[in-house]
Amino acid sequence: MFASIVLVVLCSLVNGHDSNNLITYELTFSDLYSTEKLSGNVINVDNNISMVSVLENLPELRKGMLNITYLNYLWIENVNLQYMEEGVFDNQNISLISLAGNKLAKIQSRIFDNLSIIFLSLGGNEINFIENGAFRNMVSLRELILSQNKLTQISPGYFDNTPHILYFDVSSNGITKIEEGSFSFLSDEDLTIVINDNAVEEIHPRGFENLNIIELSLLNNLVRDVPVELFTKNKIGMLVLGSNQIEEFPDIFSEGINSSVKTVMIYDNPLKCETVEKLMDSEQKSGPSCFLEYDRVARCRQN
Ligand SMILES: *[C@@H]1O[C@H](CO)[C@@H](O)[C@H](O)[C@H]1NC(C)=O
Ligand SMILES: *[C@@H]1O[C@H](CO)[C@@H](O)[C@H](O)[C@H]1NC(C)=O
Ligand SMILES: *[C@@H]1O[C@H](CO)[C@@H](O)[C@H](O)[C@H]1NC(C)=O
Ligand SMILES: *[C@@H]1O[C@H](CO)[C@@H](O)[C@H](O)[C@H]1NC(C)=O
Ligand SMILES: *[C@@H]1O[C@H](CO)[C@@H](O)[C@H](O)[C@H]1NC(C)=O
Repeated sequence: MFASIVLVVLCSLVNGHDSNNLITYELTFSDLYSTEKLSGNVINVDNNISMVSVLENLPELRKGMLNITYLNYLWIENVNLQYMEEGVFDNQNISLISLAGNKLAKIQSRIFDNLSIIFLSLGGNEINFIENGAFRNMVSLRELILSQNKLTQISPGYFDNTPHILYFDVSSNGITKIEEGSFSFLSDEDLTIVINDNAVEEIHPRGFENLNIIELSLLNNLVRDVPVELFTKNKIGMLVLGSNQIEEFPDIFSEGINSSVKTVMIYDNPLKCETVEKLMDSEQKSGPSCFLEYDRVARCRQN
């Protein structure tokens, strides 16, 4: 009786493993039009293919499952991927990889290192842990998407030699604090940093430093205090602070501070009238454009 139960369990494990190894995927040829649906234990791709999309359940991505000589897009999205074996992308020649909408919880350090991709999306997973050095020697990487995960911090230790990231998105995670040096891994110019829909309460004065930012977006967080260093220690074009808890704004418009900020989006904050006046005043003196609610301004001016 017990023996047969054990046997049944064993059989289902073995079957489960077998079917996990079968990969069903679609090739899109370089004419970007013809497609072909295939299944096999290995995704084999040579020169003529532009995109590979995995179509069906793929809980594990193991070493040897990829044999890619040259490919633009590898899309392994929404297929219940939970585990990637270290080294799975070694020697694969791919430009853009999306692993979005899966169930990855942990990113080990030996998955993406040395990979010369330009785009990586890990959005919409369950990532709550990233090993130090997970993004190492990714010298071509320009865009990294980590939105809709379960991260509570951004540590510069995750990164090592990623000199060309231009677009970094960690929206919709559980980040509560921007710590000192959090973004020291970003070195290129013209950065876009998106931290919308988190729970950021605190920005360390040196949380952002020596960066040349086109846009920093902290929409819908719990920020109360905006450190003046954000403006004095960086170049920053547009700052989005809508839907936070800001009452006062640092005096960046006064003489002696040369902030490069051109636009500050600060609607939906409990701004004091004094702050509203200061912002409107600076805008008049050709300071940055400040977007805030017209009725808030009107109410302050009535009093
Ligand atoms: C590559 O694409 C060209 C043009 O679409 C086609 O003629 C050729 O047969 C393809 N080669 C392979 C190996 O599929
Ligand atoms: C990998 O692809 C090459 C050519 O594209 C082929 O010769 C080789 O047999 C493939 N390896 C496996 C394990 O499928
Ligand atoms: C990847 O393939 C492209 C096009 O064939 C080639 O130019 C490039 O050198 C390859 N990169 C690597 C790392 O093999
Ligand atoms: C990554 O590249 C570095 C420097 O080229 C090399 O020392 C290291 O062994 C490589 N790691 C892997 C896993 O290929
Ligand atoms: C601001 O800019 C002016 C003119 O470029 C310069 O003279 C001044 O030293 C700068 N002030 C600061 C605090 O950097």
